[in-house]
Amino acid sequence: MDNHTMERLGYDRLELGSERRRLLTQKVTDFIEEHLQKVEKKETACFNINDDRASGLLNFSISEEPKDIGAFYLGPGAARLEQLLISWVAGLFNFPAGFAGNLTSGGSTATVLSFLTARQSKQLKARDFERTVIYLTDALHVCAYKALNVIGLGEAILRKVPMDKKFRMVPEELRKIVKRDKEAGLLPAIVAASVGTTNFGSVDPIDEIADVAEEFNLWLHVDAAYGGFFVLVDEMKYHFKGVHRADSIIVDPHKSLFMPLGLGVVVVKDGYKLHNANILTVEASYLRDVDMFQDEKSPKNFSFELSKHFRGVRVWLPLQLYGIKPFRECLKEKVELARYFTSRLGEIPGFVVDNYPQLTVVTFHYETGNDDTNERVNQHLLERILQDGSVYISSTTIGGKFRLRICVLHFRSHKDTIDFLLSFLTKAAVSLSSGMIKKLHWRKCKV
Ligand SMILES: Cc1ncc(COP(=O)(O)O)c(C=O)c1O
Repeated sequence: MDNHTMERLGYDRLELGSERRRLLTQKVTDFIEEHLQKVEKKETACFNINDDRASGLLNFSISEEPKDIGAFYLGPGAARLEQLLISWVAGLFNFPAGFAGNLTSGGSTATVLSFLTARQSKQLKARDFERTVIYLTDALHVCAYKALNVIGLGEAILRKVPMDKKFRMVPEELRKIVKRDKEAGLLPAIVAASVGTTNFGSVDPIDEIADVAEEFNLWLHVDAAYGGFFVLVDEMKYHFKGVHRADSIIVDPHKSLFMPLGLGVVVVKDGYKLHNANILTVEASYLRDVDMFQDEKSPKNFSFELSKHFRGVRVWLPLQLYGIKPFRECLKEKVELARYFTSRLGEIPGFVVDNYPQLTVVTFHYETGNDDTNERVNQHLLERILQDGSVYISSTTIGGKFRLRICVLHFRSHKDTIDFLLSFLTKAAVSLSSGMIKKLHWRKCKV
């Protein structure tokens, strides 16, 4: 936050007494009101970005006055502001005009909306479900399975498309499988790809997958919940080739935009399909009045939610206060940190990098020469790191083998954080090579 903005809002520290908090809340609320009025008057809203402090304060400030913005009529400025945010996100991926979207509670809900729209648009009926085929890889996030269950497609056939060595879907394999399914009289319907898988941070070749989707009339869904905002970083843009051809995309500001939890975005290329999948097909006389502004978008018509709080403000205020630059810089820093970790880890005897970061996920392990010992030693390392609590890393399995995993994405993770982890691992390697894992010591490090 620059000094000017701090002065404008009247605070410079986070440790606030109750009077200061009251004043700040008032100022932030006034600031929002002023801008909401501008948007309500259809004046130009300028978009810039934030960090979690402003969002946290904002949550605090609006919690006293809950606003239902499900229908445009109930919160015209807020509803328009959310539409502006959706347009901003769609613009990041070069979606052509005609898109529509919704701000959701996160990636899982956004996926439900995507698949629901796919099902409706393909006019799949219950009698078709057992012949319907969904294409995905083993690396796709599990929220996709849940979403399919929720929308009734739990009975559909799931085809796991092979991945290459970098855990990316192989488009040619997809083509072969779809062709075979079609010839067998099945109903190929959806291909779900990822820009940034959770396990590996891998990025599927979306442009080539889009070719196959077009050839066989599949709905192309892109899960960019984690990876989406890396589009802001110039060096990462090549990962997004062809994303504008997706039928639906999900992206989570509460992941790679560092925003507080509770914010996902879904964008559907043919916006009317999202609308058609969510509008009421029965008369609800008690809702007639809130739909009086036909030329304005009501969030409730683009989601299964009716009442809806003003999620957009959490991302809008930070954008407005800070500008996009700090977010871009922060993402760039995370990419560099993941690369730095990878190259330095390679210098520590015994450690093996299992996948080079495409975005900011790295998996690695200490190699003992024996799979069983590997598992025990690496599990032990993980436990020691987590017990210390200075840094957080996690584990996963690759091909059934236990692996350590870092995902560099917290805005407070900097070089000293990575250096701390590296120094821990260096000490571990020394202890391991002399058979002293249990006696491993490390110093506490503030991150
Ligand atoms: C790639 C990916 N997709 C989807 C999700 C689900 O998102 P959410 O937790 O916001 O529902 C996650 C969550 O970690 C994710 O990493």
